[in-house]
Amino acid sequence: MTYAFPTPASDTGLRLQAATPITVAVGDGIGPEIMAATLRVLEAAGAAIRPESIVVGEAAYARGASAGIESAAWESLRRTRVFLKAPVATPQGRGFKSLNVTVRKTLGLFANVRPCRAFAPFVPTRHPNMDVVIVRENEEDLYAGIEHRQTDDVVQCLKLISVPGTERIVRYAFEYARRAGRRKVTCMTKDNIMKMTDGLFHRIFNEVAQEYTDIAHDHLIVDIGAARLADRPEDFDVIVLPNLYGDILSDVAAEIAGSVGMAGSANIGEHVAMFEAVHGSAPDIAGRDVANPSGLLMAAVQMLVHIGQPAIATRVHNAWLRTIEDGIHTRDIYRATTSSRLAGTRDFADAVIERLGERPTLLPAAAYAPGGGTPGAVPVPPYRRRPASKGLAGVDVFVHAADVPPPVLADRVRAVPSGALALQMITNRGVKVWPDGHPETFCTDHWRCRFVGWSDRRLTNADVVSLLQGLSAAGVDFIKTEHLYTFGGEPGYSMGQGQ
Ligand code: NAI
Ligand code: MG
Repeated sequence: MTYAFPTPASDTGLRLQAATPITVAVGDGIGPEIMAATLRVLEAAGAAIRPESIVVGEAAYARGASAGIESAAWESLRRTRVFLKAPVATPQGRGFKSLNVTVRKTLGLFANVRPCRAFAPFVPTRHPNMDVVIVRENEEDLYAGIEHRQTDDVVQCLKLISVPGTERIVRYAFEYARRAGRRKVTCMTKDNIMKMTDGLFHRIFNEVAQEYTDIAHDHLIVDIGAARLADRPEDFDVIVLPNLYGDILSDVAAEIAGSVGMAGSANIGEHVAMFEAVHGSAPDIAGRDVANPSGLLMAAVQMLVHIGQPAIATRVHNAWLRTIEDGIHTRDIYRATTSSRLAGTRDFADAVIERLGERPTLLPAAAYAPGGGTPGAVPVPPYRRRPASKGLAGVDVFVHAADVPPPVLADRVRAVPSGALALQMITNRGVKVWPDGHPETFCTDHWRCRFVGWSDRRLTNADVVSLLQGLSAAGVDFIKTEHLYTFGGEPGYSMGQGQ
């Protein structure tokens, strides 16, 4: 499908602007309907864009593309660097990969920006003053997808948090806050438990915050933070989060704003940005002209700001706010008390088009300044690595052994000649079971045996290899190792048992 727009259109009304090519995917389910509605509004508003279509989702999966996107599509994305995407259905079952995750990872879309705002009294919500922006780290954390089954009893998932990944998302959140005229950035982690991974995220947040003295900052432990957000969202402004917490809290925030069907999100990378609605492909209502196109339209507004057409973005946003205020509502937000007319998808788009040039009377009007509030245009300074002197302090050897009392396992392991390394402790699921274990502790078949250097001699990988050779010869079934390093003299590993 191609869309022929009468271009070039003008953004400011004074200056003619060349049309910006954008890549468009109509997606699945309600996708084609809400995309048609959105593009029609953009066209009527005079957006200087030249959409080119790519095929993603069910049609691509059906043609054998395991990630729901065909190779030719990448060429368009790399060239236009802007992607307006309707929702895509992810087929259940093995062999299929999520298109969203694939696009996000392949193009390095590190930031997910999701404004969650209440539209009371026009859309019912218990939190009429809520206006929160969630900035979610999009590439790291437990979503690296590195999982292993290690024993009969135990599987693991690696949680990876990097210095550059954290620095980039935290800077992005502060830059975004500054440009969007926001006052505060809140960080949430669970660093009282995950002292290294979440601890790093929190520490870098504190460091970067020092460079933004014009913006307030605070940190909450994510469990109480999430509870507060659900109870008093008006206390929050911008919230920056590692991937998993961000995934959960962005859904909570959109839901309590009363606007899941109306929220758009931006996925920002250094090279490409993707704009989409928060909701999915809604197969239950597809093809019936009842879907609310607002989420995709609001994503398109963010896109217009991103590609340097803030005047058109403002025009569309304000016409849309006015439509909502006028009570012209699709079925998902229609209430006899707050709505004046039940609108279908096409009808709703027509109502927005009729209101182009108007502003809301009660809700705060949008006003995007050139270069302002644009999530995409935020330059994040290049990361500078700060290397520290690294020393090997020991090794955690994980062992698969069923139905063995900890002292017996300890004796078996200690019988192995271990050179410069000595067994210091054994834990099971993070709980110390040797020495001085408690008989009540439930044990799986997955043990961590911590070996540390016992002399002043500097340890090397050869010491680890010779330990493993000894364990192997003694028939100890080791299933993975983690080296224990110090960095600048500081231990780079958690010390004892978890909590
Ligand atoms: P969903 O968001 O598609 O639907 C949840 C409920 O909200 C349904 O009752 C639906 O009718 C309603 N709804 C959603 N969008 C609406 C709109 N614009 N107007 C009116 N009502 C709307 O979530 P669900 O059912 O969990 O997922 C359906 C499919 O969408 C799945 O295949 C899933 O993988 C995919 N999905 C895709 C996303 C994306 O492409 N970004 C995001 C989330 C889900
Ligand atoms: Mg999610």
